[in-house]
Amino acid sequence: MKISTDYNSGNYSIEVARGMLKDSITAYTGGYSQVHYLIDEKVFELHKGRMLAFIDHPILMGSGETSKSFEAFHYLLETLLAKGVKRNDLIVVIGGGAAGDAGGFAASCVLRGLDYIHVPTTLLAHDSSIGGKTAINSKHGKNLIGAFYRPAGVIYDLEFLNTLPDSEILSGFGEVIKHAMLKNQETVDHLVALTRNGIDLRRIEPFVISGIETKMQYVNRDENESDIRKYLNLGHTLGHAVEYKYKIPHGIAVVIGIYAALHISNQVEQYEIFDLSYYYCFFDNLGYPMDILKDIDAEEMLSLISKDKKNQNTQTAGYVILKEFGEAKFIEIEKETLGKYINDIKESI
Ligand SMILES: NC(=O)c1ccc[n+]([C@@H]2O[C@H](COP(=O)([O-])OP(=O)(O)OC[C@H]3O[C@@H](n4cnc5c(N)ncnc54)[C@H](O)[C@@H]3O)[C@@H](O)[C@H]2O)c1
Repeated sequence: MKISTDYNSGNYSIEVARGMLKDSITAYTGGYSQVHYLIDEKVFELHKGRMLAFIDHPILMGSGETSKSFEAFHYLLETLLAKGVKRNDLIVVIGGGAAGDAGGFAASCVLRGLDYIHVPTTLLAHDSSIGGKTAINSKHGKNLIGAFYRPAGVIYDLEFLNTLPDSEILSGFGEVIKHAMLKNQETVDHLVALTRNGIDLRRIEPFVISGIETKMQYVNRDENESDIRKYLNLGHTLGHAVEYKYKIPHGIAVVIGIYAALHISNQVEQYEIFDLSYYYCFFDNLGYPMDILKDIDAEEMLSLISKDKKNQNTQTAGYVILKEFGEAKFIEIEKETLGKYINDIKESI
């Protein structure tokens, strides 16, 4: 399955299949002098005997988020330069969203920009590998240093997902359900029915592909997030604050944020669009830590939301709500009102 972007120029494709990794990479490498592999160390450890056996001397990146520190980024650039990286070289980044963000940013900077391919290895990275956002973290916050820099291609070999721990499956599924909610009611109903008793990766594959298509539609039309790309932040305003406070994986926090967004959508539109107890039970049953919503402190959440680079207005916070599944809306909510909504959610559980 191949899905392509639809820009005026600089298009790339996302190939989704099983077991095609080596052949697909080879299809790109012909025109380059050298290929530099940047690989999440955990992924390399788990797959070096089989899927990654054809790769010699990779540059290993720290596992997950550790690869997004300034120090790790410095090491990456200096190692590429020490290896004699040239302008006609290709960088192949293999790992989850963190490796993709840091490796993509390294590709954008080294020698003022080299071509790179992302090989996503997590469920969540069906989302993060598309759209060209790259970044590392600062002591002042997550993803504060980065660039929009499109890959030359994305090769999503779903065989990698076989080694994901349950917590990373739950995290990635958060973005799958988000994309379904941005698509339509029918997709949500189908996905909920299929996963009510647990997430079977093979069975949700069509929804992962449909999620990629949904994300593509938004980024094709608004790459720099000045308009409709903001809808992809459904669940992320409170989600980021929860992720920071409770140190839980990104997509798990997003699910908590999505539940809050459904609640706030009902409040703003002043009727019960969404059956909150139905979605609460669905998420709770799958193992998402919904109890966090009973613990959160509205003041603290508002303070964290205000530090988010997407929310620097002092009086209001930008929020994505849904008029129905498939119809998102971006609104500004007075912070005092948002604090009240957060307290309402807490008391309603
Ligand atoms: N650029 C974007 O548009 C975008 C969008 C969403 C999220 N992100 C970023 O993505 C990051 C989160 O990405 P993620 O959820 O993929 O997590 P991750 O990359 O941090 O990986 C999570 C953990 O899983 C391990 N792992 C990766 N692949 C594995 C595999 N196949 N088997 C076993 N373990 C594996 C990693 O070593 C790590 O320990 C965050 O930094 C977030 O900011 C970026």
